[in-house]
Formats: sequence, C-alpha cells, structure tokens
Amino acid sequence: KILILDFGGQYNQLIARRVRECNVYSEVRGFESTTLEDIKAFDPKGIIFTGGPQSAYGEGAPSIDAGVFELGVPIMGICYGAQLMAYMLGGKIDSAPTSEYGRADVVIDDKDGILKSADDVNVCWMSHTDYISRPPEGFVVTAHTDHCPVAGMEDRKRGFYGVQFHPEVNHTAHGAEFIRDFVLDVCKCDQDWKMNFFAEKQIEELREKIGDGKVLLALSGGVDSSVVAGLLSKAIGKQLTCVFVDHGLLRKNEAEEVAAVFGPEGPFDLNFICVDAKQRYYDKLAGVTEPEQKRKIIGEEFIHVFEEEAKKIGKVDFLAQGTIYPDVIESGLGKSAVIKSHHNVGGLPDYVDFKEIVEPLRSLFKDEVRQLGREIGLPDYIVDRQPFPGPGLGIRIIGEVNAEKVKIVQDADAIYREEIANAGLAGSISQYYAALTNMRSVGVMGDFRTYDYAVALRAVQTSDFMTATAVEIPWNVLQKVMTRIVNEVDHVNRVFYDLTSKPPGTIELE
Ligand code: XMP
Repeated sequence: KILILDFGGQYNQLIARRVRECNVYSEVRGFESTTLEDIKAFDPKGIIFTGGPQSAYGEGAPSIDAGVFELGVPIMGICYGAQLMAYMLGGKIDSAPTSEYGRADVVIDDKDGILKSADDVNVCWMSHTDYISRPPEGFVVTAHTDHCPVAGMEDRKRGFYGVQFHPEVNHTAHGAEFIRDFVLDVCKCDQDWKMNFFAEKQIEELREKIGDGKVLLALSGGVDSSVVAGLLSKAIGKQLTCVFVDHGLLRKNEAEEVAAVFGPEGPFDLNFICVDAKQRYYDKLAGVTEPEQKRKIIGEEFIHVFEEEAKKIGKVDFLAQGTIYPDVIESGLGKSAVIKSHHNVGGLPDYVDFKEIVEPLRSLFKDEVRQLGREIGLPDYIVDRQPFPGPGLGIRIIGEVNAEKVKIVQDADAIYREEIANAGLAGSISQYYAALTNMRSVGVMGDFRTYDYAVALRAVQTSDFMTATAVEIPWNVLQKVMTRIVNEVDHVNRVFYDLTSKPPGTIELE
C-alpha cells in the first residue's frame, strides 16, 4: 500500500486515483497530523509527497519528520513534494525567474527510472513558482525545461524520485505510467486493491463511525445518493432512513424504479419514505414561467418537504450526502457567474437537526462510484443512470409546468429512451432527453386539423458537462422516435431535434 502525504495540493485525490488504477491501495493523509510513528504503523511500501501551494524554505512551510527518509521506503515527490524532498536532503530551492503554469515541454534526460515511458520531449502539466536549482547529493537530473533546470530527479539507490510537473493530471503525457512505474516497479506493491475491498472497508468504517446512531439521507434516485444508500444499508441497516421526494417532475416510472430497489420489497434493509409531493409542486408552480423562478420554487419546496419529514423522524445523529470528489473540487472553485442556480441537496445541513455529516463517496470519481454501486448490488438501471437535474422535468418543460405537460414529456421521453436503447446507442451518449417546447402548431392527423405541442429531442456528447456538442443520431432512429411520439403521445403533433452545442446553448433548456 501507498501512503500519500498531502501538503495541500489541488490534485491529491487524483494521485490517489492513479494509484487505485494500479489496483493498489492508498490513503491520503494530511502532513500535519501524520507523525513518523503513524507512518511506521501504516507500514507503506511507498510514499508519495503531493504538491502544495507554499515554498519549501518558507517559515512554517508544510513539512514532515526527516526520519521518513531513513525508513528504507521509496518516496516520490510531486511538485512541492519534490521541492520539499530536495530541500530536506540538502538540495537548493529558489524562486523561479519564470513561473510555469500549464503546458510545458519537458526534455527527458534519463529514462532509467520512473520516466521510462516518457517521450523524449514529454508534454507535462506544470504549476510552480519555485524550482529546484540544485538537487541533493546522490540524485541525477532526469528531466528539465527551458525554465526549470530540475524537472525530474532521482536517487535510485535510496529510492527517492522527484518530478516538478504533475504526472497525475491527464494533460501530462504518460503521467499515469510514471506513477504506475513508481508504485509497481519501484515499490513493488501488491495489486490486490479492488472495488470490493473498498466497499468492505467503507462499510466497516461507516459502522464504526455511526455506532448505534441514526442516519438520514435525501435519496434522489441518482447514482451518487443511491450508492450512499446501499453502502449505509449494508453498514447499519434500519438505522438509516432514506427520504425520497416525488416532486412530480421525475421521469416516467422513476419513482417506481427507486422504490423497487430501496422500498420494503427491495433487497436493501433500511427505512424508505417516499413522499408524494406532486400536487404541492404543481400548485406552487402554477402560472410560473420564468426559469430561475421555477428553479427557486422547486429547490425551496424540496427543502420544505424534506424538513417536514425530518421533523417527523426527530433528532438524527448523522446526515448522509452523496458528495463525490468532483463536487468537492467544484465547490472550492466556484467564483464564476451564476448561469443557472443548480439545485442539489448540498444546502441541507442548516435546517435538519443532526450532529455530523457522512460523505462516504468524497474521494471517488463518478466512474468509480458506478463501479462501487455495481459491487454492492445496485441494478444497472440505477448505476448507469445519466445525470438528471435536481429540478427534473421542471426545466425540460419550457414555460409553465402542469400535470398534463409533465405527462406528455414523460411519455415522449420514455419512447426516446427506449428507441435509443434499442438502437444500442445508450452507452455512447452523455445525456439525452425529450423536452416540451412551449409552442403549439398546426398539423393534420386523420384528415383533421390539430393544434398541439411540439416536443424537442436533445442528445449531447460531453466529457465534463461544461461544453458539449449535439450527437449525430442516425436519421432512421430519429424518424422512428418521431413517428412513435406523434402517434402514441396525446397532444403532440411535431418533433424537433436540437442541434445546439454548449456554448452557446446549455444542456438543459432552462
Ligand atoms: P446545463 O444545462 O447547465 O447542465 O448545461 C449541465 C449539467 O448539469 C445538469 N443540471 C443540473 N443538475 N441540478 C443538478 O443536479 C440542477 O439544477 C441542474 N441543472 C442542470 C444537467 O442535466 C447537465 O448534466
């Protein structure tokens, strides 16, 4: 196993992920709270020092007991971690005359160590204002750039490796291989870490942390909250209460699908409360057309409903949340303009009486959460779910929302999903759905004039949901969807396909 000593860098969980990808167990621990005794007790086969924002020579700079270099355990330093290693072992750190941020062409001078997979000039991601001007004795320089004399250094005899760039980020070519070669070739870690191991460990830890306490979870039926529910159910059974709010803006059969898994008939042991709040939402949304206003109402009403349920349950000890690692990063950055006020359960803690939050997915990435979900026995239709926005169909019905429109969009969307699945396209599209435009137009059906709604189909490809392009769905599939929708869904006589990319469009219509 690998110990990742966290010196405050941005990408630390990404390092952990790269190690997990080698099927090797790792733990990220803060430098402040980790003593030499702790390290010995952990008994790592290798240690990685992460990046961090400070200067290694500055006063109060994050550091670690120098005894770590005497343990005979290989160490890899990344960015600040490399500088700290150099500094503590007698090398020299200076403020770089030219800081490097972003892409850098790193010239590889020596491939005998962990850089053996590198290109001769390897594209790397850099982010530093200090640099190592002289490596400590015993080290060879393995890489450099125009502005950075020591972009890599190694003392292979003692097992110390440093890189100034960030091998953990995707932008660094072969970066994952550099980490892999450290973890497997240098540290010779056993490749015995699998998701089932993580699941067992999480369940064990949750059991220990929660004891005989009561836990409350707002279950949306999305991947993250479902996996949390599954884990907690396995850990503490009926000490967990899940509140699922049917706001009447769910996809067709969604409430039933969630209840089939988490309800009393399902395989999981927990208290499942399904609140039928449909009419409440429709009443609140009556006459409201402005998108932000709709989002606000839906978000606030969720809080009210959840709060009422929480009151009935009384005091709980823990509030569980499905926060995953990208949420943690994003919430740390967010200074950008509000395009849409995203509704998530993130704001809950203010009004529910509880002591502590549990977030068992905090260190995982989305694909790992899905893997974990599979591991604990969630069905594919939950685990493979595409993102569904908190405000649900409320933002896929342009303009005023009512029960009749919800029914139309649910039926049209179900047909669209069915045909996409039949065409074998479901796995290759990031997100797709049917929406109801607020437009009616004239058509003819069975020799009669119709004046009915137009449905819009959307399908996008994206890697991060920040930018997206419309997917080129085969014409015959679209034709079939169109035919079925106008024939099978009442009050629809026209179907559009949305070609807009993001930007300028957004993925949802409101
Ligand atoms: P937009 O429409 O902003 O969507 O391009 C980007 C991604 O976010 C989802 N989305 C939401 N998710 N609460 C959520 O949890 C929301 O209020 C919300 N609005 C949009 C959207 O489905 C897409 O995946």
